[in-house]
Amino acid sequence: MIPKLFRFAYYFSRHDNCPWEFNKNASNFRKTFQKKYQNLLRGIEGIKIAQGGYIAFGSKLYPGDIDIGEANNVSSGAILRGKVHTGANVRFGVNCHIAGPVTVGSDTMIGNSVSVFGFNHGTDTGSNMSEQPLVSKGIHIGDDCWIGANATILDGVVIGDHSIVAAGAVVTKSIPPWSIVGGVPARVLRDRRFANNLELLSA
Ligand SMILES: CC(C)(COP(=O)(O)OP(=O)(O)OC[C@H]1O[C@@H](n2cnc3c(N)ncnc32)[C@H](O)[C@@H]1OP(=O)(O)O)[C@@H](O)C(=O)NCCC(=O)NCCS
Repeated sequence: MIPKLFRFAYYFSRHDNCPWEFNKNASNFRKTFQKKYQNLLRGIEGIKIAQGGYIAFGSKLYPGDIDIGEANNVSSGAILRGKVHTGANVRFGVNCHIAGPVTVGSDTMIGNSVSVFGFNHGTDTGSNMSEQPLVSKGIHIGDDCWIGANATILDGVVIGDHSIVAAGAVVTKSIPPWSIVGGVPARVLRDRRFANNLELLSA
């Protein structure tokens, strides 16, 4: 009895952590369960989910203005809250935290434990931090981007299409398309189209 239950739990959690494997090897039971789960979420006001993809049972989509495009994968522990709008084929890694307003283009991968916060707290000295108002410009992450594990993207930033943010980077300023950026604060390492050519990015 116990090994069977263990096998079930293990198998169940596998796609929650590796949702890209779902279409390859999920059983019909799992597919039916996932469809039902997505339909359940679609019934909640403030959550829209297009068809396809995989929403981990262990992720959290908070009702508000969630609008997820076709075939998005949302892994276990991922939190999406506030206004979060995405294109098609976006992947949210394990334990990432996306607090809108955030828009994400199509075919973009957001790595494990990435933080994307589309707001700041005020910093005036007149009140305690806990009473500061929220200020927000919002964040846009373009098409075909890869945000590496543990990166943080701060409010007001636009990540240009086809860009890569290195693991652990803190992105404080907008970056042009095709950039690979890394470090704290993030700096352009190179243009993704070329092995070593920073000049092209500023051309
Ligand atoms: C950025 C990345 C894609 C590599 O890009 P690349 O252009 O091939 O980079 P290279 O390995 O040639 O390194 C270029 C420079 O960037 C630096 N660099 C690479 N990764 C870095 C990082 N995460 N943070 C800071 N600097 C980094 C290198 O040290 C090197 O610096 P140098 O020229 O002074 O020696 C890779 O390092 C990375 O961070 N990948 C994300 C991995 C990840 O998150 N995986 C989880 C799966 S979602």
